[in-house]
Amino acid sequence: MTQARAVLAGSGIAIPPLEVDNHMLSRIIDTNDQWVRERSGVVTRYYVEPGVASSDLAVEASQAALADAGMEADAIDYIVCSTMTPDHYFPGSGTVIQQKLGMKPLPVLDIRQQCAGFAYGLQVVDALIRGGVAKNVLLVGADVHTSLMPFSARTFEVLHGRDPGPLSDEDFQWNSRFRHLLVLFGDGAGAMVFKAVPGEERRGILDHALYGDGGHRDILFVPGGGSQRRPFVSCQMIQDADTVPVMDGKAVFKLAVTRMPEATHTVLQRQGYGTQDLDLLIMHQANLRINEKAQQILGLPNEKVYNNIQKYGNTTSATLPIAFHEARQKGMAPEGALVAFTALGAGLHWGSVLMRV
Ligand code: UT7
Repeated sequence: MTQARAVLAGSGIAIPPLEVDNHMLSRIIDTNDQWVRERSGVVTRYYVEPGVASSDLAVEASQAALADAGMEADAIDYIVCSTMTPDHYFPGSGTVIQQKLGMKPLPVLDIRQQCAGFAYGLQVVDALIRGGVAKNVLLVGADVHTSLMPFSARTFEVLHGRDPGPLSDEDFQWNSRFRHLLVLFGDGAGAMVFKAVPGEERRGILDHALYGDGGHRDILFVPGGGSQRRPFVSCQMIQDADTVPVMDGKAVFKLAVTRMPEATHTVLQRQGYGTQDLDLLIMHQANLRINEKAQQILGLPNEKVYNNIQKYGNTTSATLPIAFHEARQKGMAPEGALVAFTALGAGLHWGSVLMRV
C-alpha cells in the first residue's frame, strides 16, 4: 500500500470585530486613503479588542475548521501552530490553543516562519501524515499585529472613534513613524484540519518547494526582544522602537514578485503539471500589487487567483488559510481542484505548496 496522504477535511477562519478603514487610520497617523489603496490595495482591516490574543483567534478558527470537518477536537492527534505574535515570548501558543480547545495532552508544535509560516505548516502536516506520525492534524495560523504597534491605549480609542480625539501632536508624530507598517497589516486567524487517507493517490498535499535564506534577514526583522541583546528587552529599546519590525518594503516587494512565481513553477513542474493545470492560486496577502505582478508572471487568468487583502490587509500566518477558506466558500476550490499556495516573508522564508482538494 502507498503512504497515507494528508487530505483536507475542513477549514475555518476567525475575523475580529473591529473594522478599520483607511480614513479611520488618518485619525492616528499621517496617511490617506488614496496612498494606501494605490500602493497596497488595502481598503479595510480588522482589529481585536485589547486583551484578545492570537491564541483566542486561533481557537475560534480551529473550532470552525473542526466543525467544517465534522470532527470533535478529541479526534485531533497533532497540532501545528504558526504565529509571529504568540501570546508570550515563550512558550509558543500551541499548548495554549490545545488547552483552550479542551483537548487531552498531545504533540503540539509551534513554527515561526512569519508570512511563510502556514506554507511551512502544510509541509510539516504532509511529513507527519506520510511518515505515519499523525492521523488527524490541526494546522492553525493566527496573528495579532496590533500588539506590535507601540501605541498608547488612547491611540486605539481615537482610531475606533470611542474617544473624539484629536491625539496630541507628539503622539501623532510618533505613531506616524510606523505608518508604512500599520496600513498594511490586520489581525486574523485561519485553520485547516487534515486527515490521513491510506492508499489515496490523487488528493491531498502533493508537494512543496520551500526555502530559507538568512542573507536577506535584515530587510524584515525585529531588532530588539531577543537573546542577541542583554537584557532581551529594555526601556531604551522601547524608546527607540526596537521592538517594532524594521522593513525595507521595496526590497521585500522585489523578492516576492520573483520568488513566489519561481517556487510555484518548481512545485508544479516536479509533479508533472504546468500553470494551465492549476485551478486556484492562493498567494500570501502582503500587497495587491505584488500579487498582480506575480499573477502576470505566471500567466494566470483572474478566475484562478483569489485575493482578499483589500478587506483584511496582511494577517501574516493567517493569509493563506483565510483566502483559501473564502475561495472554497465561493466554489473556487471544489473537491479535486488543484491548488497552489505561495508565500514570502521574514527570514527570508518563501516557497509554494501544491495540494489537490
Ligand atoms: O509579508 C511581507 C511583509 N511586507 C511586505 O510585503 C512589504 C512589501 N512592500 C510594500 O508593500 C511597499 O514597499 C510599501 C507599501 C510598504 C511601501 O510602498 P513604496 O511604494 O515602496 O513606498 P516607499 O516606502 O518608497 O515610500 C514612498 C513615500 C515616502 O515618502 P517620501 O520619502 O517619498 O516623501 C513614505 O514616507 O510614501 C510615504 N509613505 C506613506 N505616505 C502615506 C509611507 N507610508 C505611507 C503611508 N501613507 N501609510
